[in-house]
Amino acid sequence: MCGIIGYIGPKEAKDILLDALELLEYRGYDSAGIALNSGFENPIEVLKCAGRVSDLRKRCEGDKGKGNCGIGHTRWATHGGVCDENAHPHQFGNVTVVHNGIIENYKELMEHYHLAGDLTSQTDTEVAAAVLNHFYQGDPYAAIRKTVLKLKGTFALVIMFEDRPGTIYAVRNVSPIVATCCEEGCMLASDVTALCRFTNSYFVVPEFHVLEMNESGLKLYDMSGEEAIPQYMTVDWDVSRADKGGYPFYMEKEIMEQPDAIRRTIEGRIVNGIPDFSVDGVPDEIFTECERVIVVACGTAMHAGLVGQALIQSKLRMHVDVEYASEFMYADPVVDDKTLVIAISQSGETIDTLEALKYAKKQGARSLSIINVRGASIARESDYVLYTLAGPEIAVASTKAYTTQLAVLYLMVARMAYLRGTMSIEEIHEFVGELARVPKVMESVLSRRQDIHKFARAILNAKDAFMIGRGLDYSILLEGSLKLKEISYIHTEAYASGELKHGTIALITENTPVIAVVTQKKLHDKEMSNIREVKSRGASVTLFIKESYFSQEGEQDWSGIFTLPDMLDEFMVMPASVALQLLAYYVSMDKGLDVDKPRNLAKVVTVE
Ligand code: G6P
Repeated sequence: MCGIIGYIGPKEAKDILLDALELLEYRGYDSAGIALNSGFENPIEVLKCAGRVSDLRKRCEGDKGKGNCGIGHTRWATHGGVCDENAHPHQFGNVTVVHNGIIENYKELMEHYHLAGDLTSQTDTEVAAAVLNHFYQGDPYAAIRKTVLKLKGTFALVIMFEDRPGTIYAVRNVSPIVATCCEEGCMLASDVTALCRFTNSYFVVPEFHVLEMNESGLKLYDMSGEEAIPQYMTVDWDVSRADKGGYPFYMEKEIMEQPDAIRRTIEGRIVNGIPDFSVDGVPDEIFTECERVIVVACGTAMHAGLVGQALIQSKLRMHVDVEYASEFMYADPVVDDKTLVIAISQSGETIDTLEALKYAKKQGARSLSIINVRGASIARESDYVLYTLAGPEIAVASTKAYTTQLAVLYLMVARMAYLRGTMSIEEIHEFVGELARVPKVMESVLSRRQDIHKFARAILNAKDAFMIGRGLDYSILLEGSLKLKEISYIHTEAYASGELKHGTIALITENTPVIAVVTQKKLHDKEMSNIREVKSRGASVTLFIKESYFSQEGEQDWSGIFTLPDMLDEFMVMPASVALQLLAYYVSMDKGLDVDKPRNLAKVVTVE
């Protein structure tokens, strides 16, 4: 949450900062700001405003602010409303700061240092700036060390001191900062997306270390003042994959990329028709020595976990819990050394998921994570990692990350079933063969996307919509409903359709839009009965149904009908997900909304 950038080098800092903030904007886009440091003769100049980076660009037009050193921030508001004053950077005395995270004890600090009358914003960040200023007596390290000892919560703080032109300092706890030194200069950022235009080499600033960057390079020190050696890594992000590629929105591009993303994710992980994680260095014991599985994740990643749960239970007859990461540790979960905890996360930075993972590890669990961003915090914290090879996902609404998470889960289930002998070799070959067919099946759905566009028009003006299905169809709809509500702002609820009659059916009236998914043989008849129940109360139903389960002779009065190409039932989640992603996308686009950056949301959530 919140995007941070810092730059010192031969180039004009303003341009580099603004471009980087645009790339980081998916972390938050309530307000944006930069601070430029152009030497002793000029004070640090702060330019900031509520709104998008594009608004900040306009604000910067005509401003003479020059300099080759600066810091920038794009905000997702936590403390204080969305307004110019609360935008970062914040200045207090000698100190200019940008911050990602939450300073939980900001109120106590305000009282302790008698700051109330001197603050100009409602943010916790300005309090941190004031505490830094309080401790600053000309020694940045001493001030930073003393300040972080006082802070409770999570933070990535990037700091400039008025009397230290051309130098940027950074320190963090939990919230991420990556950094690099390359031909174009020294840079730090919340994530590599902002750096990879310049270099593919970067390192993660370790927690509670101070990073110092100036014209002669960068240095890293631990809290006792000992110099530390940055551990450089290579990013495998292809920067060209982080642009819109001719599509109006990243979301459409990312939906269209799914067949290739799935191919990349499964290729190299199948040997002689059997999934094999040797390339990932994941040992088989992790799958054979566990007695139960707990999946921790948030949002879309959690929905992928629900599909994983259904698969593991049916193919392995093993107990699986799927938990919202934010709830997990507060429910006193039963975890021991026979538990395999699986953390699923696109960004690998979601703090709730990270904390849940740490908690499970402390209780003795072994851990595996399914992550998209290489080297992310959750990946580093896990015993083992299986990366999804979706490439950069920029749209806030997750699409290709979700389906590649599913692909990894299918591979994992088949590997486990092979090792534990719960499926025969023939069954595993069939299962893996079906997974290999997913990209082609998705392509067939994508080629008929204009049919789905037509259905979108029917729900464009709806205030509420319901999504109904059972079993795996319900899991798919939980994700489909999240997609629709987050980007179209239509209130949408996914319901297990057998449960409707216990209350929710009271909300179905003439023309209420209902979206139904029917792809599971064992549930087909019951799902169709539930659909009839809402139709007879006036609902206007759009049906997504597995091709071979659709009978032309049956009912005709659908608001829309889309047949999903046949796959084994347990794989129908793949074509159905793509169809529901397209539905949400077209509704949002036709409503003229900012599809990639829905209001109030952020792609990377690093606050609890
Ligand atoms: C945010 C995003 C969602 C995402 C969730 C979990 O809320 O807007 O799209 O599913 O975080 O993110 P993760 O990076 O852990 O998958």
